[in-house]
Amino acid sequence: MIRDWTPRSWRVRPVQQLPDDYPDPRALARAEHELSRLPPLVFPAEVCRLTTALGQVAEGKAFLLQGGDCAESFKEFTIDNIRDAFRLILQMAVVLTFAGGRPVVKVGRIAGQFAKPRSSPVETLGGVTLPAYRGDIINGMDFNPLERTPDPKRLLRAYHQSSATLNLLRALSQGGYADLCNIHQWTLGFIGGSPQGDRYRRLADKIIESLGFLRALSINPDPQAGLSQVDFFTSHEALLLNVEEAMTRTDPASGHWYDTSAHTLWIGERTRQLDGGHVEFMRGIQNPIGLKCGPTLEPDELLRLIDVLNPEGIPGRLTLIGRFGADKAAECLPRLMAATRRDGRPVIWSIDPMHGNTLKASNGYKTRPFDRILLEVKAFIQVAAAEGVHPGGLHLEMTGQNVTECLGGAQAVTEDDLSSRYHTHCDPRLNADQALQLAFLVAEKLQALRTPEARAA
Ligand code: PEP
Ligand code: CO
Repeated sequence: MIRDWTPRSWRVRPVQQLPDDYPDPRALARAEHELSRLPPLVFPAEVCRLTTALGQVAEGKAFLLQGGDCAESFKEFTIDNIRDAFRLILQMAVVLTFAGGRPVVKVGRIAGQFAKPRSSPVETLGGVTLPAYRGDIINGMDFNPLERTPDPKRLLRAYHQSSATLNLLRALSQGGYADLCNIHQWTLGFIGGSPQGDRYRRLADKIIESLGFLRALSINPDPQAGLSQVDFFTSHEALLLNVEEAMTRTDPASGHWYDTSAHTLWIGERTRQLDGGHVEFMRGIQNPIGLKCGPTLEPDELLRLIDVLNPEGIPGRLTLIGRFGADKAAECLPRLMAATRRDGRPVIWSIDPMHGNTLKASNGYKTRPFDRILLEVKAFIQVAAAEGVHPGGLHLEMTGQNVTECLGGAQAVTEDDLSSRYHTHCDPRLNADQALQLAFLVAEKLQALRTPEARAA
């Protein structure tokens, strides 16, 4: 049991980024109470399966692929968006599995990724100042006083949307769609004709051929082998501690506390204070957790965070998600990785090459250059190899849709293109083509690490 912890113990700590401007606090308390009585979204047995799978990543025997929207929204809640996000992850996982020769643990930023930390609590436009948009679970994006006022009903709407999203994800992952024999059908329409599409098709042909070969030898891939169904897990940033508290329940079998809002949750860069409410809440839940590590994090502080978040060093319990920016990754990562290696408690090192590489285009759009994203991933893999650490994962903001939010990539999205399909509710996401291209590039790097020359270097 975790000492001196309850799902409410975060409430006596300082907390960042929680909205404090609900006009009717009693209505908020009622919504929290209602949430606490609603069924769990995920189950302890599933969460344990994820911890075990992540334990394999921590030991260097598997790879973690985590990705999805920066922020889900009420407006973009469609079967197409969910299915396309799911199949993009499947496609990328195939590419990474084939190259790395290791299983890929698949985790979506989905079914609960609604709340956003903001750099300022207010936004000023044309001389008018209003509360900042904090994600659909809190307020609306339109710039008017009514929309920007936090509304507790949104908490329940986000719960129900998450529940329907999970229902679809369970059907997609267990109901036949994810059968490896369907590998060609996962190709997203608009990628079909692109270089990434062609490359994927060739890889898929090879896999189908290998399956045919196994069958000819009467080795029938059976459902238990994980070829006809996949494990797909959900995640979001544990930002709204009142919501996470309401979704946290004890497992009667083990007596442990599980946050049943998602299989895994992470602590954001802005809320990782050692004495803060977010770290306090996360230390007590049994779910595997993530911790964003930005350029200001020093090795000492990281080790103290590990003391609090994974004192016993359970493999798979803690994923460190670097997010430094292409310029700073090579400078910051070596000492952090060296510190965790010396510490000896197993952690997963993953890289989020999105949040340190955001810039404003000359036409005002918030964007991220594909080249910078790639540079940060390359630096991560290089430093990990030099430090003798497993480059365990990739954390991406991406969508299965053909958006124009990040610059560059094989299809060369330009600043002028940004306005044509810019749909994100917060940060710019890789489109499916860019995400698949990144998967192929990472796969090449991982494959190179497997060659004897690379290992000797
Ligand atoms: C995010 O992942 O959406 C996010 C806000 O990241 P960070 O906490 O690393 O800034
Ligand atoms: Co983001």
